[in-house]
Amino acid sequence: MRMVDLIAKKRDGQELLTEEINFIIEGYTKDEIPDYQMSALAMAIYFQDMNERERADLTMAIVNSGDTIDLSDIEGVKVDKHSTGGVGDTTTLVLAPLVAALDIPVAKMSGRGLGHTGGTIDKLEAIAGFHVEISKEEFVNLVNKDKIAVIGQSGNLTPADKKLYALRDVTATVNSIPLIASSIMSKKIAAGADAIVLDVKTGAGAFMKTVEDAKELAHAMVSIGNNVGRKTMAVISDMSQPLGFAIGNSLEVKEAIDTLQGKGPKDLEQLCLALGSQMVFLANKASSLEEAEAMLKEVMTNGKALTKFKEFIANQGGDPSVVDHPEKLPQASYLIEVPAKQDGVVAEIVADEIGTAAMLLGAGRATKESTIDLAVGLMLNKKVGDSVKVGESLVTIHANRENVNDVIAKIYENIRIGDHSEPPVLIYGIVTE
Ligand code: URA
Ligand code: CA
Repeated sequence: MRMVDLIAKKRDGQELLTEEINFIIEGYTKDEIPDYQMSALAMAIYFQDMNERERADLTMAIVNSGDTIDLSDIEGVKVDKHSTGGVGDTTTLVLAPLVAALDIPVAKMSGRGLGHTGGTIDKLEAIAGFHVEISKEEFVNLVNKDKIAVIGQSGNLTPADKKLYALRDVTATVNSIPLIASSIMSKKIAAGADAIVLDVKTGAGAFMKTVEDAKELAHAMVSIGNNVGRKTMAVISDMSQPLGFAIGNSLEVKEAIDTLQGKGPKDLEQLCLALGSQMVFLANKASSLEEAEAMLKEVMTNGKALTKFKEFIANQGGDPSVVDHPEKLPQASYLIEVPAKQDGVVAEIVADEIGTAAMLLGAGRATKESTIDLAVGLMLNKKVGDSVKVGESLVTIHANRENVNDVIAKIYENIRIGDHSEPPVLIYGIVTE
């Protein structure tokens, strides 16, 4: 087999066979196929697309390019959740204890990563003593005993994706549905998921800017999952404005604690219930999404979800008293209000730009080397559709520096006040096949 022939085949719109896709991904992982040939193929895929069979084959070839996590020692269906990424997205912190409270195993491998705020691990590390440096054995034991544990990323998972994603980034081939869908799904499958729930975001703060694109990506990923034997469902959700009120690590932990008791922001709660219902359903613990949602609401109101969160924190060395005393989380030195300059209704809060404002304070990493300040961030006091009077606070800045003029300017540029506006749709649809 020669790579040049396979590039030509795809360029001309033909489908690649399973063994051809395996040859490409194996060769590329071993550096036997050079970047210039792989970029030509990526561009051919960008224009010619791949059918469902090719997409599933590509996903499994990427999974098989490295280590995979074996969770077979954990009893029950391991359902994992993935979000395509957004601003102030606290859903994982809520969903993990919420679902575990229904005796569904949550075996989470998480990373730190770049972004407006830290990853799930960074957020959890805002809790004094909490750590994810546990052995594989301890991880499995904790999930079997208490249904929940988080471990830091280890092993050489999906090396083909690391190389290919970096290559796509510099060859204008990121934005291709078959390439995005196989990239995301390969990582979830390599991490050991039996079933997968996807939160595909749309809007300014999302990878997919339009609802149509988000739906297409969701269908592509659900189809891959189901074709490779992992039951998969997706929710299409809004990311035109940040989710919830909190953007920042400690602030989001506090927001998660509120939400676990049914006292959180309504949008965050609604999304957690939608995603959580799919997780409960795929874990075979409910016979419909409606039944699953009722079960989740019950553990929010009867205190079981909050108790599960405390147990989880204590199991991994953290101080569970933060749940009742969130003031023990790292606190910023300066609280600065950003007052509205006019009366009206909030018409727009540009998610990605507001996320960048939080990052300027130190809430997230701009580069891999940056350190995160867990205490800082933004609290939105208004969301789209809320009326506001001149002088009323739009946002509270939690900072560890006195001069935040850069952050204030960014906030004013990205919160628009108009005459009238409605809250955006939060959930655009669910995709089950
Ligand atoms: N996120 C991924 O992990 N892969 C892509 O290709 C795009 C977004
Ligand atoms: Ca939030």
